[in-house]
Amino acid sequence: MILGVALLGNPVLRGIARPFTAGEIAAPETQRLVEDMIETMREYSGVGLAAPQVQVPGRLVVMESMGDPPAQALPLQVLFNPELSLAGAETEEDWEGCLSVPDLRGKVPRARTVRVKALDREGRPLEFIAEGLHARILQHECDHLDGRVFLDRMTDLSSLTHLAEFRRISKEAKSS
Ligand code: NI
Repeated sequence: MILGVALLGNPVLRGIARPFTAGEIAAPETQRLVEDMIETMREYSGVGLAAPQVQVPGRLVVMESMGDPPAQALPLQVLFNPELSLAGAETEEDWEGCLSVPDLRGKVPRARTVRVKALDREGRPLEFIAEGLHARILQHECDHLDGRVFLDRMTDLSSLTHLAEFRRISKEAKSS
């Protein structure tokens, strides 16, 4: 089922989401929520979605990127209770958008590499290091669990760009 996406201004996007217990992860309604979040992310061509964005104040994110370029492809990942820590000092700035902040793109500085501890879809613990686009999406989605959107992380709002202009810029960049 495709879920409604909360838009900026909705208080659910500014709250602190609560962790899932093992029992809650295994519950059919939670597994159904995971399915619905994946379907919703794909329907709206997002590369990630956090539960608060579909009005559920819990610590759950889904991510997937088909890859553009293909080297940036990210297989479907479902994480409960993710915890991020820095795995390097390097930061980089790149464009981000958000289904809860429609039609805007902005340049956001993020850590290049992060260490992730989380539970997978079946509630099994996992730990890994992510970098580049994967690390960026993780930081963006985990911010949603703490009531933050990418606009809060921008250090210079002058890069904020309407999607129509962004498409024009990327077209020019590609053709030059
Ligand atoms: Ni977002």
